[in-house]
Amino acid sequence: MIIAVDGPAASGKGTIARALARHYHVPHLDTGLLYRAVALTVMRLELDPSIEADAVAACGFDEDLLADAALRDDATGQIASIVSAHPLVRAALLQRQKRFAHQPGGAVLDGRDIGTVIAPDADAKLFIRATPTIRAQRRHAELRARGDDTSYDQVLADIRSRDDRDSSRATAPLVPAIDAAQLDTSFLSIEAAVAKAIALVEARLARAAAMAAPSV
Ligand code: CDP
Ligand code: CDP
Repeated sequence: MIIAVDGPAASGKGTIARALARHYHVPHLDTGLLYRAVALTVMRLELDPSIEADAVAACGFDEDLLADAALRDDATGQIASIVSAHPLVRAALLQRQKRFAHQPGGAVLDGRDIGTVIAPDADAKLFIRATPTIRAQRRHAELRARGDDTSYDQVLADIRSRDDRDSSRATAPLVPAIDAAQLDTSFLSIEAAVAKAIALVEARLARAAAMAAPSV
């Protein structure tokens, strides 16, 4: 069983994807971390994220980097959205994500293009939304808890510019798959959002089972 969870920054997709993976006992991949690792490598090697060849050179990042706390920095997310717009960067990370999605037993992946590019054949697709100001409040609180003093206004501006860049790029833009169920978490607690996500997945699985059943 493959579950695709997409959505913009701080919409709650990671929280929901982790909970779905626990619920269905399948592994989870946060694909944003891969783009963040490319971004951090670009930053540390003092490469130029807007130059495709520089960003591609950073795709062979050290696996240990996936556990680096600096991946979660606001600045890393911004650079991630610049490197991720390059088609050759997306191509370099494609097979790894496709393999993870299609492993025996299934998987849950969250990102921007899981339902459209990585696993168009997913059994259930969710597109998670929340208003920009609520997403900025959530991300600001997270950053503060980590001792990062980026202002709320800066976080909101960064979220808006990342939304624009991710939605307008030519390759694998942030758009809901036509068969995705949409879930707005703006006014939902984490528990309520997770319960709704499970109900939406169950509805998708039940519909697929009904369509697959032989008619009598
Ligand atoms: O957690 P948050 O939503 O803030 O960001 P993320 O999922 O870690 O993604 C960071 C950036 O990587 C995004 O703004 C996208 O530009 C890029 N990304 C992508 O292009 N495709 C994905 N499947 C996942 C992330
Ligand atoms: O993965 P994504 O960037 O979309 O968001 P996340 O990491 O799942 O959630 C961002 C922050 O919002 C986390 O601190 C969550 O605990 C919080 N959150 C929330 O307050 N209410 C929700 N319904 C979902 C997430």
